[in-house]
Amino acid sequence: MKEDAVILTPNAPSTPRINGARVFGARPGNPFMFAIAATGDRPMRFFANGLPNGLKLDAANGFITGVVNKKGTYNVRLTLENSLGRAERDLRIIIGDKLALTPPMGWNSWNCFAHDVSQDKVESAAHAMVQKGLINHGWTYINIDDYWTVKPGSKDLTLQGRGRDENGRMIPNPRFPDMRGLCNEIHSLGLKAGIYSSPGPLTCGGCLGGYKYELQDAELYAEWGFDYLKYDLCSYDMISKDKSIGELMKPYVSMRDALRVQKRDILYNLCQYGIGNVSTWGDKAGGNSWRTTGDITDTWESVSWLGFSQNGLESYAKPGNWNDPDMLVVGNVGWGPNLHPTRLTPNEQYTHITLWCLLCAPLLVGCDLTRLDDFTLSLLTNDEVLEVNQDPLGQQAARRSQNGDTEVWSKEMEDGSTAAGLFNRGEDKVSVTA
Ligand code: GLA
Repeated sequence: MKEDAVILTPNAPSTPRINGARVFGARPGNPFMFAIAATGDRPMRFFANGLPNGLKLDAANGFITGVVNKKGTYNVRLTLENSLGRAERDLRIIIGDKLALTPPMGWNSWNCFAHDVSQDKVESAAHAMVQKGLINHGWTYINIDDYWTVKPGSKDLTLQGRGRDENGRMIPNPRFPDMRGLCNEIHSLGLKAGIYSSPGPLTCGGCLGGYKYELQDAELYAEWGFDYLKYDLCSYDMISKDKSIGELMKPYVSMRDALRVQKRDILYNLCQYGIGNVSTWGDKAGGNSWRTTGDITDTWESVSWLGFSQNGLESYAKPGNWNDPDMLVVGNVGWGPNLHPTRLTPNEQYTHITLWCLLCAPLLVGCDLTRLDDFTLSLLTNDEVLEVNQDPLGQQAARRSQNGDTEVWSKEMEDGSTAAGLFNRGEDKVSVTA
């Protein structure tokens, strides 16, 4: 029986409301950027009390920028006003060594465009993130996945298929004519930019990877203005001597060290599908998040297997370090030029978003944002649900009980309350008594 796509998310009120992360971490001395996520009728005025020295707030758009040199925890009181009212909320800014104090939220090109990604498409995604209002709910990162470098040996004329100039500097393929311009554009919208590479000679898609150029590539990412790196194991498994933890960590540690010396905060995602129980050493290898699974696809088998298999990993998640059961498969997806509406039913999509929020998983939408339908938009803009994901305590939910196909998962929140999810993984209707 076909399910109706019933929208459950209430419309955001016209009065001001502050959404998104309540805690934000940055390193001293590096460029700082935090866009206050807020709903309500525009125009609005933003105010912030208690900002650390070095930061300023743009009262018209809510972007907090600058550089803070002094480590510390700064409790800031945010206020927001429009013609209909006023809202206040605390924001804790922690200047120290930790980034990603809440799970990253954003978009990634893979589940929609895959090898067909281009600078134009990434720019359009960034603009859509703002135009559709996702930015007002905390959505921030615009991440390029594989296929921005050349395919070695391919006929990209200007590069002779080498993909690096005589000094070893990476040259993107012709579909990405201006990386720095792209990052500037993304930043001007109040968003952040992400990039992808592999520690091996080739990426998973057979494009140029970063093997032996780690430091130089990290410098280039920082120079272009990237804020996030997904580092995908792929062909590095040909280089590893064995499957010992030391060998598994090695490529990730060397990129960690290369990123650490950049004068830029770059979130670091270890993409190696959970090999060698990455959750147990991902933090040590510098990861802000690490993939714990193989690739997701838009079927219930895939989503339910990946999501529910996170049980047992909850003790490894904490502010700055997140288990990543892969990206979201709602909206128009397709891994190439031909997109289709996700094959998940509406209720499976509710389960997907609910579970990923309870799991404190990174939330990276993998659909074409320029073709976002109302139902998908509603799934991605339920602030009460997103707060469960972004809660400052950073506790990942675990399974508390199971009875056949029905399961109860829960997590503690910073304010002492409990967030719970009641799931029916089977095909049958169940009656639940609370
Ligand atoms: C792997 C990753 C995917 C994607 C592709 C790109 O399969 O797990 O998320 O990055 O590589 O080729």
